[in-house]
Formats: sequence, C-alpha cells, structure tokens
Amino acid sequence: MNWWETEFLAVKDNKLWIAGKDAAALAKRYGTPLYVYGKNRILERYAQLDDAFTRHSALPARICYAMKANSHRGILRLLQRRGAWIDAVSPCEVETALKAGFPAERILFTGTSVSRADLRTVFGIDGLTINIDAAEQLEIMSEVRRREFPSKSIRVSVRWNPGVGRGFDARVITAGKRSSDGTPIKFGVEAKKVIDVFSRARRLGFHPVGLHQHLGSGWVREDFGMVRAAVDRLVRKAREVEKAGFPLEFLDFGGGFGPRYLKNRAVFPVGDYIAYLSGAVARAGLAVKALAIEPGKFMVGDAGVLLLGVEYVKESYGNIFACVDGGTFNTVPRPAIYLQAHHEIVNASRIDGQARARITVAGNLCETGDIFGRERSMPLPVSGDVLAVLCAGAYCRSMASNFNLREIPREVLI
Ligand code: LLP
Repeated sequence: MNWWETEFLAVKDNKLWIAGKDAAALAKRYGTPLYVYGKNRILERYAQLDDAFTRHSALPARICYAMKANSHRGILRLLQRRGAWIDAVSPCEVETALKAGFPAERILFTGTSVSRADLRTVFGIDGLTINIDAAEQLEIMSEVRRREFPSKSIRVSVRWNPGVGRGFDARVITAGKRSSDGTPIKFGVEAKKVIDVFSRARRLGFHPVGLHQHLGSGWVREDFGMVRAAVDRLVRKAREVEKAGFPLEFLDFGGGFGPRYLKNRAVFPVGDYIAYLSGAVARAGLAVKALAIEPGKFMVGDAGVLLLGVEYVKESYGNIFACVDGGTFNTVPRPAIYLQAHHEIVNASRIDGQARARITVAGNLCETGDIFGRERSMPLPVSGDVLAVLCAGAYCRSMASNFNLREIPREVLI
C-alpha cells in the first residue's frame, strides 16, 4: 500500500481510484484540470475530532471549520449538517456560512485590519461572535456600535498572541513576536494588554465571552512539544481573565494540525493533542463551558486532489518536463507561494511503471516558479496521461487566481 492511500484514494489495476471512481474516467467526464473532493473522507476527519473530544473532555466541543481552507458550498453544507461550527475571517465568509445554513450563533468572526464597513456588516448579524484582534480596534468598534447599534448586546472574544507560534513555513506562523524569518507578526493582542481589552470591551458595552489563539498552520509530530507549551499559556491566561472578573463561555485553541503531505513526516498526534488540552483545562479548574478548535487543513486537505492532463513531455538541457494543462496559481498555488510546501504527485494512469524518471511537472503559466513538483521520481508519463496532485483540498481552490487570464477549474464533490 502506498503511504498516501486512504478511504478516499486507492490503487486498483495500477490506476488511481478516487472515492471508488476511476480517476481517468472522472477526468474524461468533467475535463481537466479538475478538483475532486470526497465527502466521506471529510466526515471521517470530523468524526476523528468529535470522538477525541467525547473521549477526553466533559465539556462540549465546538469544531469550528476554518472555511478559508475551502468554502465549497457542498462541503459547508455537509459540515453544517454534521454539527460543525465556523471560523470565518471576512464578512463575505460569514455571509457564505449563513447561506450554507450555519446559524450565526455557530460562527466566530476573526478579522484582522477590520474596517468600519466590516464592523457595520458583522454587528448587524444577531448572535455572531466577533473576535478582537487589537486593543486599538476597540475605539472604532465602539464608535460604530454607538452610531448604528446603540442598544445591541454584541458578543466579543479576544484573540491574544501567546508569544509563541508554530507553522510549516515562516509565512504561516501567526503568533510570537516575529516569524522564523524575522517578519513581525500582526495578529492578536499582546499578553500584557489582554485584561485591559476585556475591561474596556465591557465598559464600551460589548459582551466578552471567549479567549482565542491561533499559532500557525501545518504542524507535524515534532511540533507537539511546542504546541503543548502554548496550550499551557492559553490556560494560564484564561485563569487570569476569569480571576479578573470575566467568566469565559469558551476557550478557542485555533487550528494548525495538518494532514500528511510528505512520506517522511510523521503526522501531528491530534488525539493526544485534544486529550492534552482537555486535561489542561480540567486541571486548571476553569469555569469555561465549551472548548473550541478551528481545523482547516486537517478537515479537507487530504480529501481533495487536483487532476491534470499531460499535454506532452519535453526534454531540454537534460531536464524532463511533464507539461500539464493547468497552472499552479490557478489551481494549486501553494508550491509557488511557500518554499516549504510539497504536494505528492502520482500518475493516475500508471501508478507504477518501469521507466522511472526525474520529472518536473510544469504548468501552463509564464513563470519559472509555475511547477507543481520538481524532479519527482515517477514513471515516464505520455501525452494523455492524467496526473493527480494530492492533498489539494485545503488552500488550493480558495487561494487560486485567474493569473494569465486562465480559468479556475471546476470542482466535484463525490
Ligand atoms: N484559525 C485561524 C484564526 C486561522 O488564521 C487559521 C489559518 C486557521 C484557524 C486554520 O488553520 P489550519 O487548521 O488550516 O492550519 N495558506 C496557508 C495556510 C494559512 C492559514 C492561515 N490561518 C497554506 O496554504 O498552508
């Protein structure tokens, strides 16, 4: 069995099968490039988290799907029916979640650089919780509330920056003073300002209900120690907040744990993590009524693939290219954006083949960085083969653009 095989992906007759369907047949029916997502894999991921909370925590869990990972309507509806909550980061995401059937009470809006127009929209949605990203935001929030919603009780929570962060690439570490490459980190309220933000929020007429952190994205096994330390920080801060007279309805640990993108990278132990954070909250004797997490990648990452058609195989100065009918920016932009991003690529038409070669899978955009995978060992493709870019369910369609005026592929959820 290949390391990437799951309930969603299997090999039969040396060809790739996706959710019980022949990948080449899907490519033929819908055309390439094509995103294919699997309902059952997404539900399996949800169940994994839900079961872990049931096993380890006496408190109800809010599994808030980070819809920025993939806001496909069918996926949202599937998760809505299953009881998920939503992490939304723009007013448009909030509205999309509402349209998919999520009640506002199950949505947390976590914005950054939030405008007055954003505030007018989100304050108008009854039951929504608004996460505060900056102490400096409070005056503007108060002004908009006074002017347009003077008698409304608005639920807020505080996103703090615990001073430590973790992610697979410098660009996606979202807590700490600076990222691993020195970039100043813009998110959240600094530790020493947190209590003051709670007091001022209440004084200005808001109703503070929660404390939140998000450390970054794409954790693997070796990040667990660091993540545990950050859990401890959040729990300690929550105790301080409670002692200062602000009972917390929920504590939100954010997202960050990923699926398996690489063969030689052990996955983050998500069950142990949920056990750990549940235990830490219980031991601290916090009065919180619910625990929240915000998984994006974990929920949909390995429940999606991108199918590409090989137009021709090119040789130039000894390099061999599989020239495909899609471009990274329009389909799977992650490898073109993040140095550390890796997507496994398999030849769906011939999984194993004798003539293995080092193939660079090149897209159809005018940019050298437009490659899905560099010098990958795989059977030599031929024109008409279908290649599958794996783990394309998260942050692929949602970050795709029309660069070079190329279309963004269609999506099927099966
Ligand atoms: N909660 C908040 C407040 C977030 O900012 C994020 C992701 C998540 C939850 C979900 O994190 P996840 O479980 O998906 O790791 N475009 C990057 C990922 C950026 C994630 C930013 N925030 C990528 O393609 O790797």
